[in-house]
Amino acid sequence: MTRPLVIAVDGPAASGKGTIAARLAAHYGLPHLDTGLLYRAVGQGVIAARGSLEDAGLAEEIARALDASDIAATDVLTGGEAGEAASKVAGHPGVRAALLDLQRAFAAQPGGAVLDGRDIGTVIAPNATAKLFVMATPQIRARRRWLQLQARGEPIGFEAMLADIQRRDERDAGRGAAPMVQAADAVLLDTTDMDIEAAFDAARRIVEAARAS
Ligand code: C5P
Repeated sequence: MTRPLVIAVDGPAASGKGTIAARLAAHYGLPHLDTGLLYRAVGQGVIAARGSLEDAGLAEEIARALDASDIAATDVLTGGEAGEAASKVAGHPGVRAALLDLQRAFAAQPGGAVLDGRDIGTVIAPNATAKLFVMATPQIRARRRWLQLQARGEPIGFEAMLADIQRRDERDAGRGAAPMVQAADAVLLDTTDMDIEAAFDAARRIVEAARAS
Protein backbone atom coordinates (compact mmCIF):
# COMPACT_ATOMS: atom_id res chain seq x y z
CA MET A 1 0.00 0.00 0.00
CA THR A 2 1.30 3.46 -0.79
CA ARG A 3 2.18 5.68 2.13
CA PRO A 4 -0.37 8.46 2.83
CA LEU A 5 0.82 11.86 1.67
CA VAL A 6 0.36 14.43 4.44
CA ILE A 7 1.43 17.97 3.59
CA ALA A 8 1.74 20.63 6.30
CA VAL A 9 1.76 24.23 5.10
CA ASP A 10 2.38 26.85 7.78
CA GLY A 11 3.13 30.54 7.68
CA PRO A 12 1.87 34.02 8.52
CA ALA A 13 -1.19 35.79 7.12
CA ALA A 14 -1.16 36.47 3.36
CA SER A 15 2.12 34.62 2.83
CA GLY A 16 0.45 32.61 0.07
CA LYS A 17 0.13 29.46 2.16
CA GLY A 18 -3.62 29.08 1.60
CA THR A 19 -3.37 29.29 -2.18
CA ILE A 20 -0.33 27.01 -2.24
CA ALA A 21 -2.12 24.47 -0.03
CA ALA A 22 -5.23 24.52 -2.25
CA ARG A 23 -3.11 24.08 -5.39
CA LEU A 24 -1.12 21.21 -3.85
CA ALA A 25 -4.36 19.51 -2.78
CA ALA A 26 -5.78 19.77 -6.31
CA HIS A 27 -2.51 18.55 -7.84
CA TYR A 28 -2.25 15.46 -5.61
CA GLY A 29 -6.02 14.84 -5.40
CA LEU A 30 -6.04 15.27 -1.62
CA PRO A 31 -8.58 16.82 0.74
CA HIS A 32 -7.57 20.28 2.03
CA LEU A 33 -8.31 21.92 5.37
CA ASP A 34 -7.72 25.64 5.87
CA THR A 35 -7.40 25.52 9.66
CA GLY A 36 -7.52 29.33 9.91
CA LEU A 37 -11.23 29.04 9.07
CA LEU A 38 -11.78 27.05 12.27
CA TYR A 39 -10.31 29.81 14.44
CA ARG A 40 -12.15 32.40 12.36
CA ALA A 41 -15.44 30.54 12.93
CA VAL A 42 -14.80 30.50 16.68
CA GLY A 43 -14.02 34.24 16.69
CA GLN A 44 -17.12 34.94 14.62
CA GLY A 45 -19.19 32.72 16.93
CA VAL A 46 -18.08 34.77 19.95
CA ILE A 47 -18.97 38.01 18.14
CA ALA A 48 -22.38 36.60 17.13
CA ALA A 49 -23.03 35.62 20.75
CA ARG A 50 -22.10 39.20 21.75
CA GLY A 51 -19.43 37.78 24.01
CA SER A 52 -15.90 38.99 24.70
CA LEU A 53 -12.99 37.59 22.69
CA GLU A 54 -11.08 37.48 25.98
CA ASP A 55 -13.67 35.05 27.41
CA ALA A 56 -11.74 31.77 27.09
CA GLY A 57 -14.63 29.66 28.42
CA LEU A 58 -17.13 30.92 25.86
CA ALA A 59 -14.65 30.58 22.98
CA GLU A 60 -13.83 27.01 24.04
CA GLU A 61 -17.50 26.11 24.21
CA ILE A 62 -18.02 27.40 20.66
CA ALA A 63 -14.88 25.57 19.48
CA ARG A 64 -16.13 22.26 20.96
CA ALA A 65 -19.39 22.58 19.02
CA LEU A 66 -17.63 23.15 15.67
CA ASP A 67 -17.71 20.61 12.91
CA ALA A 68 -15.15 20.91 10.07
CA SER A 69 -17.88 20.16 7.54
CA ASP A 70 -19.81 23.28 8.72
CA ILE A 71 -16.95 25.58 7.79
CA ALA A 72 -17.33 27.35 4.46
CA ALA A 73 -15.09 30.18 3.29
CA THR A 74 -17.77 32.90 3.30
CA ASP A 75 -16.88 36.59 2.88
CA VAL A 76 -17.62 37.19 6.56
CA LEU A 77 -15.32 34.39 7.67
CA THR A 78 -12.46 35.38 5.38
CA GLY A 79 -12.80 39.12 6.15
CA GLY A 80 -10.61 41.35 8.29
CA GLU A 81 -12.77 41.38 11.41
CA ALA A 82 -12.94 37.57 11.60
CA GLY A 83 -9.15 37.35 11.13
CA GLU A 84 -8.52 39.71 14.01
CA ALA A 85 -11.04 37.85 16.19
CA ALA A 86 -9.47 34.52 15.19
CA SER A 87 -6.01 35.57 16.26
CA LYS A 88 -7.40 36.56 19.68
CA VAL A 89 -9.35 33.37 20.39
CA ALA A 90 -6.47 31.27 18.98
CA GLY A 91 -4.41 32.30 22.01
CA HIS A 92 -6.73 30.46 24.43
CA PRO A 93 -5.21 27.01 25.10
CA GLY A 94 -8.71 25.53 25.61
CA VAL A 95 -9.74 26.60 22.11
CA ARG A 96 -6.64 25.01 20.58
CA ALA A 97 -7.26 21.80 22.55
CA ALA A 98 -10.91 21.73 21.44
CA LEU A 99 -9.88 21.90 17.76
CA LEU A 100 -7.05 19.38 18.00
CA ASP A 101 -8.86 16.06 17.41
CA LEU A 102 -10.80 17.36 14.46
CA GLN A 103 -7.61 18.56 12.74
CA ARG A 104 -5.67 15.39 13.56
CA ALA A 105 -8.51 13.25 12.24
CA PHE A 106 -8.48 15.25 9.01
CA ALA A 107 -4.72 14.72 8.66
CA ALA A 108 -5.10 10.98 9.32
CA GLN A 109 -7.37 10.23 6.32
CA PRO A 110 -6.23 7.08 4.48
CA GLY A 111 -4.68 8.72 1.39
CA GLY A 112 -3.39 11.73 3.26
CA ALA A 113 -4.36 15.41 3.32
CA VAL A 114 -3.13 18.96 2.99
CA LEU A 115 -3.57 21.26 5.98
CA ASP A 116 -2.56 24.88 6.24
CA GLY A 117 -2.25 27.00 9.36
CA ARG A 118 0.29 28.06 11.96
CA ASP A 119 1.05 24.90 13.94
CA ILE A 120 0.42 22.07 11.47
CA GLY A 121 4.05 20.94 11.18
CA THR A 122 4.74 21.42 14.89
CA VAL A 123 1.57 20.25 16.70
CA ILE A 124 -1.16 18.88 14.43
CA ALA A 125 0.85 16.68 12.05
CA PRO A 126 4.42 16.45 13.37
CA ASN A 127 4.96 13.33 11.22
CA ALA A 128 3.77 14.93 7.98
CA THR A 129 5.48 13.69 4.81
CA ALA A 130 6.33 17.23 3.73
CA LYS A 131 6.40 20.45 5.73
CA LEU A 132 6.55 23.90 4.22
CA PHE A 133 6.91 27.19 6.03
CA VAL A 134 5.73 29.89 3.65
CA MET A 135 6.71 33.49 4.28
CA ALA A 136 7.03 36.88 2.58
CA THR A 137 7.90 40.35 3.84
CA PRO A 138 5.16 42.11 5.86
CA GLN A 139 4.99 44.81 3.15
CA ILE A 140 4.24 42.40 0.33
CA ARG A 141 1.77 40.45 2.48
CA ALA A 142 -0.03 43.65 3.46
CA ARG A 143 -0.20 44.60 -0.22
CA ARG A 144 -1.69 41.23 -1.22
CA ARG A 145 -4.31 41.32 1.53
CA TRP A 146 -5.06 44.98 0.80
CA LEU A 147 -5.69 44.17 -2.89
CA GLN A 148 -7.96 41.26 -1.93
CA LEU A 149 -10.07 43.29 0.49
CA GLN A 150 -10.16 46.23 -1.91
CA ALA A 151 -11.42 43.96 -4.72
CA ARG A 152 -14.38 42.86 -2.67
CA GLY A 153 -15.33 46.27 -1.37
CA GLU A 154 -13.82 46.05 2.13
CA PRO A 155 -11.74 49.24 1.81
CA ILE A 156 -8.90 49.74 4.27
CA GLY A 157 -5.83 51.99 4.07
CA PHE A 158 -2.53 50.30 3.22
CA GLU A 159 -0.82 51.55 6.39
CA ALA A 160 -3.66 50.20 8.52
CA MET A 161 -3.39 46.85 6.70
CA LEU A 162 0.37 46.72 7.34
CA ALA A 163 -0.13 47.50 11.03
CA ASP A 164 -2.80 44.80 11.16
CA ILE A 165 -0.46 42.21 9.61
CA GLN A 166 2.37 43.13 11.98
CA ARG A 167 0.10 43.01 15.03
CA ARG A 168 -1.18 39.60 13.96
CA ASP A 169 2.37 38.29 13.38
CA GLU A 170 3.40 39.40 16.86
CA ARG A 171 0.33 37.85 18.48
CA ASP A 172 0.67 34.56 16.58
CA ALA A 173 4.42 34.21 17.16
CA GLY A 174 4.38 35.51 20.73
CA ARG A 175 1.59 33.45 22.31
CA GLY A 176 2.32 30.69 24.80
CA ALA A 177 -0.01 28.10 23.24
CA ALA A 178 1.32 26.61 19.98
CA PRO A 179 3.04 29.80 18.75
CA MET A 180 3.65 30.20 15.03
CA VAL A 181 7.14 28.84 14.47
CA GLN A 182 8.88 27.05 11.63
CA ALA A 183 9.20 23.33 12.45
CA ALA A 184 12.84 22.20 12.61
CA ASP A 185 12.27 19.91 9.61
CA ALA A 186 10.15 22.34 7.55
CA VAL A 187 11.46 23.84 4.32
CA LEU A 188 11.28 27.63 4.15
CA LEU A 189 9.59 29.02 1.05
CA ASP A 190 9.94 32.78 0.62
CA THR A 191 7.25 33.95 -1.82
CA THR A 192 8.15 37.67 -1.66
CA ASP A 193 9.29 37.82 -5.29
CA MET A 194 7.12 35.00 -6.63
CA ASP A 195 3.78 34.98 -8.36
CA ILE A 196 1.40 32.14 -7.55
CA GLU A 197 2.62 29.90 -10.38
CA ALA A 198 6.25 30.21 -9.28
CA ALA A 199 5.28 29.65 -5.64
CA PHE A 200 3.22 26.55 -6.48
CA ASP A 201 6.03 25.16 -8.60
CA ALA A 202 8.55 25.66 -5.79
CA ALA A 203 6.14 24.08 -3.29
CA ARG A 204 5.57 21.05 -5.52
CA ARG A 205 9.32 20.51 -5.82
CA ILE A 206 9.68 20.65 -2.03
CA VAL A 207 6.94 18.02 -1.68
CA GLU A 208 8.53 15.80 -4.34
CA ALA A 209 11.93 16.02 -2.62
CA ALA A 210 10.37 15.13 0.75
CA ARG A 211 8.49 12.18 -0.76
CA ALA A 212 11.64 10.84 -2.36
CA SER A 213 13.72 11.03 0.81
O1 C5P B 1 -4.66 31.77 8.35
P1 C5P B 1 -5.69 32.75 8.80
O2 C5P B 1 -5.29 34.18 8.58
O3 C5P B 1 -7.04 32.47 8.27
O4 C5P B 1 -5.78 32.54 10.38
C1 C5P B 1 -6.49 33.42 11.21
C2 C5P B 1 -5.90 33.35 12.62
O5 C5P B 1 -6.17 32.07 13.19
C3 C5P B 1 -4.38 33.50 12.68
O6 C5P B 1 -3.97 34.86 12.80
C4 C5P B 1 -4.01 32.68 13.89
O7 C5P B 1 -4.04 33.45 15.06
C5 C5P B 1 -5.08 31.63 13.98
N1 C5P B 1 -4.63 30.31 13.56
C6 C5P B 1 -3.91 29.56 14.45
N2 C5P B 1 -3.53 28.28 14.13
C7 C5P B 1 -3.82 27.77 12.94
C8 C5P B 1 -4.52 28.54 11.98
C9 C5P B 1 -4.90 29.82 12.32
O8 C5P B 1 -3.62 30.01 15.54
N3 C5P B 1 -3.46 26.50 12.66
